[in-house]
Amino acid sequence: MDDLKHQYIIICESTSHMLNTDRLLKLRGIKTELTPTPSEYGSICTTAIAFDAEDKSFIEDILQKNYLGFQQIHPYQPRKLSGLIRSLKNNIISQPFNEVMVKIQEGKELTKEEIVLLLKSDSQSEKEALYQAADKMREEIIGDTVEIRGAIEFSNYCKKECNYCGIRKGCTTPSRYRMTEDEIMESVYQLHQWGIKTVILQSGEDDYYTTDMLIQIITRIKRETKMGVTLSIGEKSYDEYQFLREAGTNNFLLKIETTNRQIFEFIHPDDNYDTRIQCSEWLRELGYANGSGNMIGLPGQTEEDIAEDILFFKKMRIHMIGIGPFIPAKGTPFETYETGSIEMTLKAVAVTRLVCKNVYIPATTALASIDPDGQTKALKCGANTIMLISTPEKYRKNYQIYSHKNMIDLASAFKSIAEANRSIPKYLKVTPQEVV
Ligand code: 5AD
Repeated sequence: MDDLKHQYIIICESTSHMLNTDRLLKLRGIKTELTPTPSEYGSICTTAIAFDAEDKSFIEDILQKNYLGFQQIHPYQPRKLSGLIRSLKNNIISQPFNEVMVKIQEGKELTKEEIVLLLKSDSQSEKEALYQAADKMREEIIGDTVEIRGAIEFSNYCKKECNYCGIRKGCTTPSRYRMTEDEIMESVYQLHQWGIKTVILQSGEDDYYTTDMLIQIITRIKRETKMGVTLSIGEKSYDEYQFLREAGTNNFLLKIETTNRQIFEFIHPDDNYDTRIQCSEWLRELGYANGSGNMIGLPGQTEEDIAEDILFFKKMRIHMIGIGPFIPAKGTPFETYETGSIEMTLKAVAVTRLVCKNVYIPATTALASIDPDGQTKALKCGANTIMLISTPEKYRKNYQIYSHKNMIDLASAFKSIAEANRSIPKYLKVTPQEVV
């Protein structure tokens, strides 16, 4: 669906209403797309239905005849960034760079070539302009509050052999662990006590945890804490994704890592590129807030590849985009490869904010692991989320997906947020003074 075409969106009162509405419209032959709710109409982590203007009266008629809960229809307008060019007047920028900034100010879509131009910006002044523009977009869309979420890495067993990953099956460095349901709940309670609203359950691809076991854990988290649940457990079947969704899982993180098919196959000896994309599509269809992302500095990766990644996030209407530098992990086939560039990662974060707009972008742990100020820097160029590592102390050191992984805790999150001049979330029940 061409975004430049005039479109409308339907905002529904709940995810299940949204899915029912979408199903009904599709049955009537209408072309719709599930998309992150624009921030002016609701939370970005929810999903709205986009459709072409020419179908508006037909759709209004269908919705009137089939009551599916409270709904609103709004124009789906491109987000402009007024005042951008004025705010960049002290930056020395080239004519082509300026033309791209004008397009962003006017809310126009960028082409791949224009995205590449931004990623290749080289002078200090242009890089700063890029970061400033992304920061302004983040402020417009999200505001100043940094979302804080907690990740529990509940198993480092993995059946896959991804060449970059420090917990790949063949890697002998980590001692393997699996957390019990009660251990997971202990970590969840800690986050809940702090007032944190979303817990991320992450693991290697470990079939020891059956769908039933996962459902039991998710149900307990929901019942006992009402927290939002994000899963990051890799590729599953459609049915498994559906059961996990029906059990109450809100979000799913499954990164594409790179959209360059050759590089994808080179780094993932036992994964299939089309399957990965299929999984991402299923997650969106099932109404998950859908997470993706990539690594920067993969062998052979170019700025053109990164531009394609960003266009993929947009086309796939991804809600949450994690962008981190590749970091060599001990004991893996890639252990001697070069670390990805901090600067290219920051540029990719900035351009992703400018292109995808209505998305959550974490300041990744990977960035913090190669630069102590990495998270502050990311927060200043488009990022809006920090993920705490909430894995129990005794297991953490064995979840080294890459070497020297930084252990982001509340104190370091507060520090990055303060240094970036931003606000901690109002829902937190713990203050920076209490955690020093
Ligand atoms: N360097 C950087 N990021 C890595 N990840 C895994 N291994 C590495 C590495 N060596 C990232 C991947 C994965 C996420 C959980 O961690 O993007 O999706």
